[in-house]
Amino acid sequence: MTATNRQLILKSRPKGLLAPGDLQLTESPLPELKDGQALAKVKYLSMDPTMRVWMVVDTYFPAVAIGDVMRAFGFAEIIESRHPDYKKGDRVTGFTGLQEYAIIDDSVKRQFRINGLTAFFGMEIAQAKKGETLVVSAAAGATGSIAGQIGKIQGCRVVGIAGSDEKCSWLTKDLGFDAAINYKLSNWKEKLAAATPAGIDINFENVGGDIMHTVLDRMNLFGRVVLCGLISGYTRGDPGLESFGTVLVKRLRVQGFIVIDFASRFMEAATQLGQWKMFRKLKDRETIVEGLEKAPDAINMLFTGGNIGKLIVKV
Ligand SMILES: NC(=O)c1ccc[n+]([C@@H]2O[C@H](COP(=O)([O-])OP(=O)(O)OC[C@H]3O[C@@H](n4cnc5c(N)ncnc54)[C@H](OP(=O)(O)O)[C@@H]3O)[C@@H](O)[C@H]2O)c1
Repeated sequence: MTATNRQLILKSRPKGLLAPGDLQLTESPLPELKDGQALAKVKYLSMDPTMRVWMVVDTYFPAVAIGDVMRAFGFAEIIESRHPDYKKGDRVTGFTGLQEYAIIDDSVKRQFRINGLTAFFGMEIAQAKKGETLVVSAAAGATGSIAGQIGKIQGCRVVGIAGSDEKCSWLTKDLGFDAAINYKLSNWKEKLAAATPAGIDINFENVGGDIMHTVLDRMNLFGRVVLCGLISGYTRGDPGLESFGTVLVKRLRVQGFIVIDFASRFMEAATQLGQWKMFRKLKDRETIVEGLEKAPDAINMLFTGGNIGKLIVKV
């Protein structure tokens, strides 16, 4: 095969936001397919904050090695196959990596769209009851926007926290959140207090740091904290978990989770999410960036708030 594959290789571990050259665009020849492999053309790549974590430290996955193609979820179409389960034209999702073509074999598991599933299982952990107050941070992002809408389906008063008036207006006008607070306004803490007159029963935490401290301060005794992400610390290498005094005094139940813990139930969750979507109880939105070479800038957008809803790179 003579075609080449453009790939983004991890060259250095970023400090702060990604700097030019941390991910380097290279071209390499496409490998010969072996039995048990298929070749897929990557169409779309999911941009996930955890990619920034994978560039630096071992977590629930090992850190990406220097010199390797950057790990990423992608959506791809099979263009050639020597694998019994795939034929030309099949569509697959899974760890394709930041590249134009991916070899698909049994190690590339079929995955579903991860953010909806994360919101689904996070809200299952929350054990929300009708009438409770749920606060979601990074609420206009891929995970938070779905978590908040599930909270509405479950009968909660839902308050989102997001980084612009445009995002807040999308949450309240289009998604049915009861209130949304722009945390970049100087009086956002007073606004959060006003929007949660009965205190907060559930915190779906995506951000950490000052936002989390402020939310925890308003929590009711025996409230629940679903620790989904701590994005404010990812570019600083600081998990931002100085709030344990509040957890103790308020007797909060805190549960962290990683969506892959629920892999055996993905089909069940995807079916429920699909039904809610069909009945217009769930809406989603995408921010699409064009071009593989733009993926490093796109990753940074997650940390500067440049996306509304799911951030995707169209390859
Ligand atoms: N546990 C799991 O299995 C799992 C799976 C997927 C995602 N997650 C976590 O869920 C969270 C959201 O991920 P996502 O993929 O859905 O991304 P996303 O919410 O679509 O994008 C990230 C958003 O976070 C906000 N943000 C970034 N830095 C911030 C800061 N310092 N302070 C406040 N807000 C900040 C930005 O919005 P603003 O404009 O509002 O600032 C940005 O748009 C992340 O923490 C991620 O790690 C966890």
